[in-house]
Amino acid sequence: MSTELKDKVYIVTGGSKGFGLAIAKSLVARGARVGLLSRNQSGLDQAVSEIGSDHAYGVASDVAHREDISAAFESIKQHFGRLDGLVNNAGMARPNAVENLVEAEVLMQVQTNFLGTVFCCQAAIPLLRGGENPRIINISSASAHHYDEMSHLSIYASTKAAVERFTRDLRVELQDDNIGVTCLRPGAAWTSFAEGWDAGAIQAGMEAWAHAGTYMDTGMEVEQVGDAVAYSLSQPVGVAVDLLEIRPNVLTPKAQF
Ligand SMILES: NC(=O)c1ccc[n+]([C@@H]2O[C@H](COP(=O)([O-])OP(=O)(O)OC[C@H]3O[C@@H](n4cnc5c(N)ncnc54)[C@H](OP(=O)(O)O)[C@@H]3O)[C@@H](O)[C@H]2O)c1
Repeated sequence: MSTELKDKVYIVTGGSKGFGLAIAKSLVARGARVGLLSRNQSGLDQAVSEIGSDHAYGVASDVAHREDISAAFESIKQHFGRLDGLVNNAGMARPNAVENLVEAEVLMQVQTNFLGTVFCCQAAIPLLRGGENPRIINISSASAHHYDEMSHLSIYASTKAAVERFTRDLRVELQDDNIGVTCLRPGAAWTSFAEGWDAGAIQAGMEAWAHAGTYMDTGMEVEQVGDAVAYSLSQPVGVAVDLLEIRPNVLTPKAQF
């Protein structure tokens, strides 16, 4: 039996757009309130105005800056008067063949996707401990496990594989505190994720990907990821969705390059 999310408070990192915004809207539709984190204040303001300021509160922070995260989480807990969970969703990728990897982009992916998840968990644990049915959800990617996702995402996929391994230990460590831990592994859906990618690197990645096979999975919407998070958060005390993979299930010919 599912537990109500009504009046609960969840932090969603990367909550200003894409999956994060869809997750936030899905939780608010079920009566929860959300604290949103992302780096750009204007994106957060837009998300808060879409959701409504009674139910959403934004704090601009970079998940890779460990010292900022605790203060941001404290301020969200103080704003709403409670905290019931954290959805570690902020993430980014920069495609490139291994030989051409740019050091700054490698570091940014490791810092945001893996270390950001670690730092946010560290900041959330003391604020969640002792709660009624506290939860942590870490967003991975199908690319951590499936080799037919887009090519030239080796670093990105590795950071998500690291998130998955980290999440397994976290789940065991937090059992005595009754904090449920879930790894959610989504496949592709259309968001602004590829904004800022180098056009040449995209072209090379797409060519290698097309070369590897003719068809791709398509058709998933961000709302399906939002619903999967709400399902995981709705489990009763003593039960946690361990690993949930949700992927599109329609085969479409890949574009030719
Ligand atoms: N889209 C897909 O097909 C897909 C598939 C599998 C998994 N995922 C995963 O799903 C998550 C969300 O992806 P998305 O597609 O929704 O991406 P998106 O549309 O680019 O949104 C990313 C969000 O993360 C925030 N963000 C990025 N770096 C951050 C940082 N260092 N600190 C705080 N916030 C940061 C962004 O806001 P700012 O730029 O303002 O910081 C934005 O709110 C990611 O972890 C991604 O790896 C996506």
